[in-house]
Amino acid sequence: MGFEKLLAARTHHMEASAIREILKVASSPGMTSLAGGLPAAESFPLDIMEELTGAVLARHGAKALQYDASEGFMPLREALVPHLAARRIAASADAIVVFSGSQGVLDTAGKILISPGDTVAVEAPTYLGALQAFNPYEPRYVEIETDDDGLVPESLDRVLATHPVKFVYLVPTFQNPTGRTLPLARRKQVAETLRRRDALLIEDDPYSDLRYTGERVPPIWSLAPEHVVYVSTLSKTFAPGLRVGFCVAPEAIRRWLVIARQGVDLHTSTFAQALAAEYISAGHLDRQLPRILDLYRPRQQAMLEALARHLPEDFRWTRPEGGMFVWVRGPAGLDAEHLNSRALARGVAFVPGKYFFVHHEDGLSTLRMNFTAADPATIDHAVSVIGEAIAEELKAARA
Ligand SMILES: Cc1ncc(COP(=O)(O)O)c(C=O)c1O
Repeated sequence: MGFEKLLAARTHHMEASAIREILKVASSPGMTSLAGGLPAAESFPLDIMEELTGAVLARHGAKALQYDASEGFMPLREALVPHLAARRIAASADAIVVFSGSQGVLDTAGKILISPGDTVAVEAPTYLGALQAFNPYEPRYVEIETDDDGLVPESLDRVLATHPVKFVYLVPTFQNPTGRTLPLARRKQVAETLRRRDALLIEDDPYSDLRYTGERVPPIWSLAPEHVVYVSTLSKTFAPGLRVGFCVAPEAIRRWLVIARQGVDLHTSTFAQALAAEYISAGHLDRQLPRILDLYRPRQQAMLEALARHLPEDFRWTRPEGGMFVWVRGPAGLDAEHLNSRALARGVAFVPGKYFFVHHEDGLSTLRMNFTAADPATIDHAVSVIGEAIAEELKAARA
């Protein structure tokens, strides 16, 4: 039987991420990859996992293996209160809902908010995984302009004035894919616009703890809490495989997020939540984070130095103070997909930036490069190979 014909209309809006295909090639033997978005394996607190597991079993016993509340394991929600307060998010444990990764929040938010044909406003470029989460609910997208400082507030205001936007989705800090961070002045403008236009923002913030230099910028939530669903995760500062993410949302939204997720997974793994609670409340996160920053800081420096050393003058790139990615823009006419094929042939992978745009043609000359998964010498070598591939590509274009 052709089971394809059984698929729901909705299923045809699901797309395998093109990036996953690139990552498959990138992870083949002998390949050096700047393509992935993975935390470095060395960043995981393997040395304390036995201790954490023992502490969880001693403290919670069978409770750590039992079904639990859909809102989340209370000791974790309580541990998240001071963690979030340090980010200027003054939320009570009741206002926090734990999900299976922040990806779980994005899907559930799409499920409760998007009817087919509804409009969602996103940055151009934006996080591909959010588009993947929202697409099955069949939204239309309207793009908000960005520049070197991220989202342009006037463009957000125009979009909200001219489209019936259900919600805005932004990654304001060390954005995936660009690494850009929205400055405080713009955050204030965004908060003011959300209030004036009575709009809802989903603020996705997985990276703000990964700051290597400079000062923290407060989340937009802290400037307009009644208009923002704040989404974050322990994937970058503990272990992504545990799938522990969370959100702080206005009550009316939170209620429906909880009801909708009950039909999906009932709740996030109790054991993973208990490990996360212990990791935070026993002070392990505070000890581990500086180690993670010390691991990534020289990698970020190596990336910026390598780009300056190996890329031609007419290439531009972001200089993020944190996160995992640098965004490179080549001259008009450069085909980054073609360039990636040349780099792959030389054993190096990155991600062509066009996949992060709703309209792929807007990002043909752009590249996303990850700097957390490789050591500084490997990064320098990989960028030098990309530099050679660029020279070859430009020569072929001139011929
Ligand atoms: C912007 C953004 N949001 C969400 C996620 C998903 O993270 P999680 O592991 O918490 O589901 C990622 C992962 O790379 C991301 O970059």
